[in-house]
Amino acid sequence: METLTLVDKTHDEARQGEAFAPFKLDNNIYKKYFYIESYGCQMNFSDSEIVASILHAEGFGATKDITIADLILINTCSIREKAEQTIRKRLTEFRKLKHAKPGLLIGVLGCMAERIKAKLLEEEKLVDLVVGPDAYRSLPSLVEEAETGQKAINVLLSREETYADISPIRLDSNGVTAFVSIMRGCNNMCSFCVVPFTRGRERSREVDSILAEAKALFEQGFKEVTLLGQNVDSYYWVNPINNEVVTFAMLLEKVALISPDLRVRFSTSHPKDITDDVLNTIAKYENICKYIHLPVQSGNTRILQLMNRTYTKEWYLAKVDRIKELIPECAISTDIITGFCTETEEEHKDTLSVMKHSQYDFAYMFFYSERPGTLAKKRYQDDIPEETKKRRLAEVVELQNELSAKSNLKDIGKTFKVLIENDSKKSNLHWMGRNSQNKVIVFPKENFNLQKGDYVNVKVNSCTQATLIGEKV
Ligand code: 5AD
Ligand code: SF4
Repeated sequence: METLTLVDKTHDEARQGEAFAPFKLDNNIYKKYFYIESYGCQMNFSDSEIVASILHAEGFGATKDITIADLILINTCSIREKAEQTIRKRLTEFRKLKHAKPGLLIGVLGCMAERIKAKLLEEEKLVDLVVGPDAYRSLPSLVEEAETGQKAINVLLSREETYADISPIRLDSNGVTAFVSIMRGCNNMCSFCVVPFTRGRERSREVDSILAEAKALFEQGFKEVTLLGQNVDSYYWVNPINNEVVTFAMLLEKVALISPDLRVRFSTSHPKDITDDVLNTIAKYENICKYIHLPVQSGNTRILQLMNRTYTKEWYLAKVDRIKELIPECAISTDIITGFCTETEEEHKDTLSVMKHSQYDFAYMFFYSERPGTLAKKRYQDDIPEETKKRRLAEVVELQNELSAKSNLKDIGKTFKVLIENDSKKSNLHWMGRNSQNKVIVFPKENFNLQKGDYVNVKVNSCTQATLIGEKV
């Protein structure tokens, strides 16, 4: 069971309980301090940086020290029931702080705020503010309202809001890699997914503001940007002045051209939208990373249809083959859900077979969790017993562990260009960085006088399940 708990803690929950770096901890400058914690996907983390910027402009400083905060914010995720349970539990931990400090405000942001809305204020008495993903500009006025003792809520979704003009404040930053949001919302309506309801309709951010943000990051010394969106491949911007169209492939190219020393990543792609244009652009520029996250969800065509994924098993496999043909060194990762409504044993085996064919380098794996309000909840019965879902998940995890090990073993003896991100977690005598394929590589610092943000060639000598270990060459 241990492994099952671990795998459910994927990128979605990676920022659990993590607070952010203090920002000029100077009581003379800021009238108030806020502490923000972010759960869920990278989009949420990136949104917290927008929230920080909005609050900062109103004289709020960010603090990592929850005990000095006047405002505690929790940016929430609704994707699986477990995520919501974790957040509810975390909220109860704030109760003590609230008793100890009268006037302390607690705000719930993000997807749970959107999903549960005013009910959250009734259910969680300690919550003072509830703010949905498109309402962050109203945070300062909502805080003022809450300060008068009223409960404050804004969960209006927007068709336009992209926070394009807001320069995010980089929280908990390594100074090397940063997220840039390029679009918001999702129109895909996968039947298992709550996101279209919590984040609203898809909209793309104006291209010049994206480029300006990426350029500014590079000028500040950042070396890698990840273009973020629920479905980046459907990025589409029409210039209202000259009707010039910018597609995702064109945007990727524009960002790549900022500097060959600025790496570009993106997340997440829907397999149906990733075009040859995008693949050719990735292949053309050395600084566009050779890594694609291509969520499959299931390997069975009938289940894919129930999930409303709009592709078949064969179509997906052809897409994987196309990626490998156009970008032979490209790493591919995926998301998998086991035990979706009515999934048979045979259909589950199709998922294993797609995994084997695709030879994923990495995967985020989950068992199906029915979410209120989704199409699947309305249309289908959640009829696979939890133990079956978990057993199938264990099989998927076991296979992926083999595939990941195989992928790492293949890298032994190869030399990669690595961008140094930080000290290695285990020792400050080692650096930790990533190669273009997004694999973590650890190597000794020795006396090379390197620093964070440097590119360095590293030869891989060995590996663990999750890390390549090498030396500078
Ligand atoms: N149950 C389990 N996993 C889910 N995901 C999304 N919704 C659900 C759900 N209801 C997974 C998908 C998605 C990833 C971010 O989370 O695999 O790609
Ligand atoms: Fe969670 Fe999805 Fe919302 Fe991200 S968009 S916070 S993964 S529910």
